[in-house]
Amino acid sequence: MSLESLSAQLLLNPNADRARAYGAEERAVLSRERAEEAASAIRGWPRYAPTPLRSLAATAREAGVAEVFYKDEGHRFGLKSFKALGGAYAVQVLAAGGGSGLTVACATDGNHGRAVAWGALRAGAKAVIFVHEGVSQGRAEAIAGFGAEVVRAGRTYDGSVRLCAEAAEKNGWQIVSDTSWPTYEDVPKIVMQGYAVMVAEAEAQGARPTHVFVQGGIGGAAAAVLAWLWEGQGARRPVFVVVEPEKAACLFESARAGKPASVGGDLDTIMAGLACGEPSPLAWRILGPGADAFMTIPDAAASEAMRNLADLSVVGGESGVAGLAGFRLAARDAEMRRTLRLDESSRVLVFGTEGATDPEVYHRIVGRAPEDVERAASLEMGEVG
Ligand SMILES: Cc1ncc(COP(=O)(O)O)c(C=O)c1O
Repeated sequence: MSLESLSAQLLLNPNADRARAYGAEERAVLSRERAEEAASAIRGWPRYAPTPLRSLAATAREAGVAEVFYKDEGHRFGLKSFKALGGAYAVQVLAAGGGSGLTVACATDGNHGRAVAWGALRAGAKAVIFVHEGVSQGRAEAIAGFGAEVVRAGRTYDGSVRLCAEAAEKNGWQIVSDTSWPTYEDVPKIVMQGYAVMVAEAEAQGARPTHVFVQGGIGGAAAAVLAWLWEGQGARRPVFVVVEPEKAACLFESARAGKPASVGGDLDTIMAGLACGEPSPLAWRILGPGADAFMTIPDAAASEAMRNLADLSVVGGESGVAGLAGFRLAARDAEMRRTLRLDESSRVLVFGTEGATDPEVYHRIVGRAPEDVERAASLEMGEVG
């Protein structure tokens, strides 16, 4: 499928308030001070290394912008996604305060559960991870590979969040959720705070974007990146766009409604990590007033972006490439370019939040195994930092 035949929807955030300072209300959710604490803890983990910031020159040329930076989380701590920064960090914080005999539990689309299971293994805690019907067998096995008990329950992510919460209450487990609800905010704040490490690294590696596109599931990752930029740069921060699958666009619908809104249906999308129907209220406190625009993209845009990246010898997973896919669709649409003020001087930053987290799914979509893609040399690919 060619890029030309795909279409996206763009919604300027009607409640965005650029003049609003990053104040106490926002700082109670996420702050640079606590992001620095997370970063200093995570930098101390064995095998820590900043992930590459790749300059995609061919993509920039094709899209008619000055630069496209791809922060490649595909090999973060060997877990293949940025989620290691959040779930595993939260387990570490809880284990430090909780003594022995800790059991942590969470629901997952795949990546968060892998991070929590890995964190529990490192912290000497037990982990029980809930996966819904749509989570691939490969992803469930990867979680079990870290010694976690894997429970299949729930039809969608949102359903398994509830079943996990009930089981945790009954068994005295500590929930380590990436999403929040009104009576449960402390742990998701720690999870999101860990995510900020990826944007802090990108800045340290020299990224000075005018535009940032981040994919959204429950909104935690996007909120963490936006909070960092907003607190640091205020009204001068980059144009910030949240990208979601068209079948699971709860943040897009929340923007339209002016408050957290859910979407129903089976949330059927290949972007498994983004298949969420309910936004995190905590994340919404940052995205609601702070994000400039929301986009939805079709599945075919994600698979096209994966193949396009593979041609540049970069491996990006279905959910990981959504921001890049959204940017590429916006860049070729004259009206979206105007709306987002994208032009030949724009410097765009996207977050490749996962690599081939399920190699079989990757192979099916791209037509090549991830190892083969990475082996292939490409003159087009530059690594900035
Ligand atoms: C690879 C990947 N990217 C992005 C996200 C979105 O993060 P959030 O749910 O915090 O919006 C997820 C969530 O699982 C993910 O797995």
